[in-house]
Amino acid sequence: MRERSVKNNYKADFPLLKNSDLIYLDSAATSQKPQCVIDAVTNYYQSQNANVHRALYGLGEATTAKYEQARKHVADFINANQDEVIFTKGTTQGLNWVANGFAQSILKPGDEILISIEEHHSNLVPWQIIAKKTGAKLVYVYLTPNLEFDYDDYEAKLNSKTKIVALHHMSNVLGNILDLSKIAKLAHSFGAYLVVDGAQAAAHTEIDVQKFDCDFYAFSGHKMLGPMGIGVLFGKKNLLNQMTPVEYGGEMISEVSQQSVSFKSAPLKFEAGTQNVAGAIGLDTAINYLKQVGISNVKALDYELCKYARSRLEEIGGVSIYGEANNGIISFNLDGIHPHDVVSFLDVDKLCLRAGHHCAEPLMNYLKIPACLRASFYIYNDFSDIDTLVKSLSKIKEFFGK
Ligand SMILES: Cc1ncc(COP(=O)(O)O)c(C=O)c1O
Repeated sequence: MRERSVKNNYKADFPLLKNSDLIYLDSAATSQKPQCVIDAVTNYYQSQNANVHRALYGLGEATTAKYEQARKHVADFINANQDEVIFTKGTTQGLNWVANGFAQSILKPGDEILISIEEHHSNLVPWQIIAKKTGAKLVYVYLTPNLEFDYDDYEAKLNSKTKIVALHHMSNVLGNILDLSKIAKLAHSFGAYLVVDGAQAAAHTEIDVQKFDCDFYAFSGHKMLGPMGIGVLFGKKNLLNQMTPVEYGGEMISEVSQQSVSFKSAPLKFEAGTQNVAGAIGLDTAINYLKQVGISNVKALDYELCKYARSRLEEIGGVSIYGEANNGIISFNLDGIHPHDVVSFLDVDKLCLRAGHHCAEPLMNYLKIPACLRASFYIYNDFSDIDTLVKSLSKIKEFFGK
């Protein structure tokens, strides 16, 4: 077995994996959690549990401070200001809030929303619905022959009617990472706002919202070693002031009378009701862990694992691989065998992979396939996981006579 040049023993930090024979290759769906994140969440409920921004006693004040410290650390992680960071349930909620609380108020009939054919449904369906509500048109950017985002097509489709550009930072199927600075510069030159779906990217590459100059950026904690049910929406301060909340309730108000209400300023005006405090604290811990690993190490591991997986998959033959990116995701099919059959067989060998349309049905249609397999890697994976995958795939091919 070949050894990786980037050495580590991260797997030992992940209780679900370290004493198990499971081979987890579905981190694009959700990452496993290191012990420190599990401990942070448990510790919160064991010794810190109180509601935030309301309790005027020591325990509550200490918890509020922890929650706001988590916000500060998230802000540092993405190079934003603390008051530009809203806690959400996840990427999906963040994107829906931007579509309904911001875009809806600026879109007029005939305006255009520009997205790409690679979008996850979370960054597609909200725009379809808003387009229908406002009379705006949804316009698509397509891919180059080697399945990369087509920057020429993007530039050609931008025009004075484009009001919103909503794109992924990293594709959940092809693994492409987009040049957001370039995209933002062009979008802004036409007066359009750039909304970014960072669900996949947050775990695999640097986020610098100032360098990108994006207007909104949404991501999820659970894909980057944090708990489920916590996410982040970044928005530029002036745009958050303009954006209206989509949900209303306790703690987001400044004053309420029988017939009227005024709101706190951002970010609190968006955080209605009791928040996922344990989630925010868990996310803070996950970010700290990721910082210790170092994003440059994550990228080096992604690259090595993807390169190795490509070469091993090519060796067995009869495999169609989609795209050329090496950012931790490889999507492929075994020629002539339905991916759902393949994953069921892989499961017998304790391999966890996703098969399906990956919440990207327009992309599947564009690729002219009903579905595909996706192996997605993270820091706890090794070459031996890929060797086991390839061995299992070879057996499946033999079984189906392919
Ligand atoms: C690219 C992309 N966008 C958005 C989402 C939605 O994320 P969540 O389900 O955490 O809201 C996902 C999840 O798979 C994704 O991969």
